[in-house]
This record gives sequence, structure tokens and C-alpha cells, in this order.
Amino acid sequence: MTRALALITGASSGIGLAYARTLAAEHDFVLVARREDRLVALAEELATVGAATELLPVDLSTRSGVAAVVERLSAGDVRLLISNAGAAGEGRVAETDQAAIDPFMTLNALATIELARAALPGMLAADDGTIITVSSLLAFSAGVSEEHIPARTLYATAKAAIVAFTRGLAIEVADTGVRAQLVVPGSTATEFGGGRRTPRPTAMSADGVVQASLTGLRLGESICIPGLEDQAAALDALASAEATLMFGGNKPTPAVRYLVTAES
Ligand SMILES: NC(=O)c1ccc[n+]([C@@H]2O[C@H](COP(=O)([O-])OP(=O)(O)OC[C@H]3O[C@@H](n4cnc5c(N)ncnc54)[C@H](OP(=O)(O)O)[C@@H]3O)[C@@H](O)[C@H]2O)c1
Repeated sequence: MTRALALITGASSGIGLAYARTLAAEHDFVLVARREDRLVALAEELATVGAATELLPVDLSTRSGVAAVVERLSAGDVRLLISNAGAAGEGRVAETDQAAIDPFMTLNALATIELARAALPGMLAADDGTIITVSSLLAFSAGVSEEHIPARTLYATAKAAIVAFTRGLAIEVADTGVRAQLVVPGSTATEFGGGRRTPRPTAMSADGVVQASLTGLRLGESICIPGLEDQAAALDALASAEATLMFGGNKPTPAVRYLVTAES
């Protein structure tokens, strides 16, 4: 059996680890995360089912870490990219350390864009490949003001960038053998947030997220919201609202409510 090569970021725990275990029967791997000891242990586990593994222990919040993975992808042999690494970030913008913004956005948004860009030439040349990106339901939370959800503007911004990027990419590659899938988990029982918070009773398992993603791929879904029953209706409503904003607002004159002068 020929094994496809999968590169997974954030493979040392949670959702990335679950992807690796689930895919191990049919894939070899390049595993990316900072905790090398975890990656070594996972590689030993994956070897028991015949999977060969390369380790790339880098920090994806740094430009050099992203560049190392870009370089590995530029070999053109990766057929499945799972861009999953991410970290929580809470707090108000005005109280955020200025120097923390760049590494946060690099890890949670820029890395996904750069890694996909690096994987695409090899996949397009082979007319075969899949790019999975992992966003968050909080990508859709920018307009939500609820006390039980902490301030999260930067996290929502980064994850919204992944939503726009992957949706656009899926359209770009639609006529090729390459596919892009956006995965949008809700609360998931992992080490996310440093294990500070007790997972909500409603949290999904990482295995559940991965099962939804891989089944969604087989169903031809370019967007997978693992816990959402009527996803098609919700995405239709989203597309309809987007069309109203984009086409409805694209007019040569300001809307009537803006034409009121100070005197009138
Ligand atoms: N858990 C949730 O409730 C939830 C909900 C929605 C979306 N998500 C998203 O799901 C993805 C996976 O998170 P998870 O829930 O599986 O959490 P997790 O168990 O904390 O896993 C995060 C993974 O990302 C890696 N990572 C974090 N910072 C990194 C860095 N600077 N450089 C390289 N790798 C880094 C971690 O590895 P190292 O620490 O070894 O580097 C780990 O493998 C994230 O993108 C997250 O935003 C999670």
C-alpha cells in the first residue's frame, strides 16, 4: 500500500494528535510542534502501525519557525497539510502587550496562509492534495457581546482570517485535484488554554472533531462545523447575508440615511 505524506502542525496534543492517530494506517508524517518529547513518543506509536515519521520541532509563532516548515513543504511531496497549531488568547486589545501581537498572529493566522502557499505547488503539480485548516467558532464571535465569553478580539481576528483564507482557497482550487477544507470546532476537550479551564460538559472530543472533518471530506464538504446539525442551511444564510452586504453596499452614492445634511 502506498502511504501519502501528511504534514500536521500542532501534532503534540489535542486535535492534531487525534488526526495523526486516525490517519496512521494510510499515511507517513511530518509532525510539527514545539514539544519534541511528545513528537518522539508519537512517532514511536505511529511506527507500530507502519507509519514513517519526520519530526520538525519548531515554534510557529516565529518567522524562522514558519520558514522551516515552508522549506520542508517546498519539497513538494506533502499531499495532506493539516494546519492546526494554535493557542488561546484572551484580553482586551488596549491591555495586550504590543510585542505579543506579532507572534500571536503569526501562529494563529499567518502560519496557516504561508504553509498552504508552500504546499500548493507540489499538490497542483500532482493534481492531488488536501489542505485542512483549523479555525474556531469564535471566528464568528466578533459581534457577540456576552459576559461569559472573555474578551477575545485578536483570537477572533486570527481565526476569521483563516475562515476567509480557506473559503477563498477552496474556490481557487475548485477546478483542480486539490481540495481545501475549513474546520470550525466549538469547545473541544484538549489542552487548549494551557489546561486552565475545565472543559465544558458540552465540549466535543478531539476524536469527534477529526471524525467530522474526515467524514466531511468524503462528503465533499469544504467547510466542516463539527457540532452543527443543519450546516447547509446556516451556510446558505451566511452566503445570503454576505451577498446582501457586498452587492447591496456597492453603490455610487451613500445610502439615503447618510444624505441628511446638518441643516435639514
Ligand atoms: N480546544 C478548543 O476548545 C478549540 C476550539 C476551537 C478551535 N480550536 C483550535 O484547534 C486547534 C488545535 O488546538 P487544540 O484544541 O488541539 O489544543 P492543544 O491541545 O493545546 O493543541 C495545540 C497544538 O498546537 C501546538 N502549538 C501551540 N503553540 C505552538 C507554537 N508556538 N508553535 C508550534 N506549535 C504550537 C501545540 O504544540 P506545542 O505546545 O508542543 O508546541 C499543540 O500541539 C487550534 O488552532 C485551536 O485554536 C480549539
